[in-house]
Amino acid sequence: MNLKSLQDTTTLHNGVKMPWFGLGVYKVQEGEEALKSVKAAIKAGYRAIDTAALYENEESVGQAIKESGVPREELFITTKVWNSDQRNDSVMEAFETSLKKLGLEYVDLYLVHWPVKEKYKQTWKVLEQLYKEGRVRAIGVSNFNIRQLEDLLADAEIKPMVNQVELHPLLSQPELRKYCKNQEIQIEAWAPLGQGRLLKHPVLTELAVRHNKSTAQVILRWDLQNEIVTIPKSVKEHRIIENADIFDFELSASDIEKINALNENKRFGADPETFNF
Ligand SMILES: NC(=O)c1ccc[n+]([C@@H]2O[C@H](COP(=O)([O-])OP(=O)(O)OC[C@H]3O[C@@H](n4cnc5c(N)ncnc54)[C@H](OP(=O)(O)O)[C@@H]3O)[C@@H](O)[C@H]2O)c1
Repeated sequence: MNLKSLQDTTTLHNGVKMPWFGLGVYKVQEGEEALKSVKAAIKAGYRAIDTAALYENEESVGQAIKESGVPREELFITTKVWNSDQRNDSVMEAFETSLKKLGLEYVDLYLVHWPVKEKYKQTWKVLEQLYKEGRVRAIGVSNFNIRQLEDLLADAEIKPMVNQVELHPLLSQPELRKYCKNQEIQIEAWAPLGQGRLLKHPVLTELAVRHNKSTAQVILRWDLQNEIVTIPKSVKEHRIIENADIFDFELSASDIEKINALNENKRFGADPETFNF
């Protein structure tokens, strides 16, 4: 894979092109904070934004999109249906609400945020309907492990195009990545920087010094060289720019091996098998 810019894309199994790199906006406050960070990202060349109904910042994300001046069709907007809407059988209403808050006519990717037991298959049927109606360009899941994907695929008419999961050097998810690759499901990393906790890791810092880059840049480059879509979050313009400045260096096979060796199946977030929210 020869990546040249943060606008480079992966092609999902339905032919839709999704940028390898985007901005995450979890815990970014509705209002000035979300508006400024999304605008700064688009100005820096980002084309993908990852939000969710849960984040309660879809209105500001939508406003930033409008004020950015970049044509809608050049952007790739992801949002997600929250667990309570799965439990209440209000997935369709939740989608309409998200779309309205974003001020958009379609979203590029709609995700099932978590695999809510006894509900996710029903949720998936609604997403399939939205996809068939052309209201979303792609549909996918988030936080699904192999067992849950197999269970979903047993009844799905349309295979998810994406699975967004916690993924970083301490949780590199080799089996899940292999499974998804075989199924043509694009893997996307949330918490790629371990929510900021990995930036002082000695092995990563040593690689950063050697490449004259930051630790965050080394991790994000590792994502791309492993064909992992990545969406680091920052509300600081200089970090938004820094995180995307990863197209002028390359990790060697041995650098990648060193990072792969850091895996300890360490989660900072909940386990999809046992989460209780
Ligand atoms: N599907 C899901 O269940 C799920 C769950 C969690 C997250 N996500 C998505 O994935 C995105 C990314 O994950 P995340 O936000 O949890 O964590 P993350 O991107 O791994 O880390 C974000 C943290 O790192 C800091 N940071 C970012 N760039 C930095 C840099 N260059 N140097 C130093 N610190 C830096 C940020 O602080 P500042 O903002 O102060 O710069 C923030 O505290 C989310 O925003 C969200 O869109 C999805």
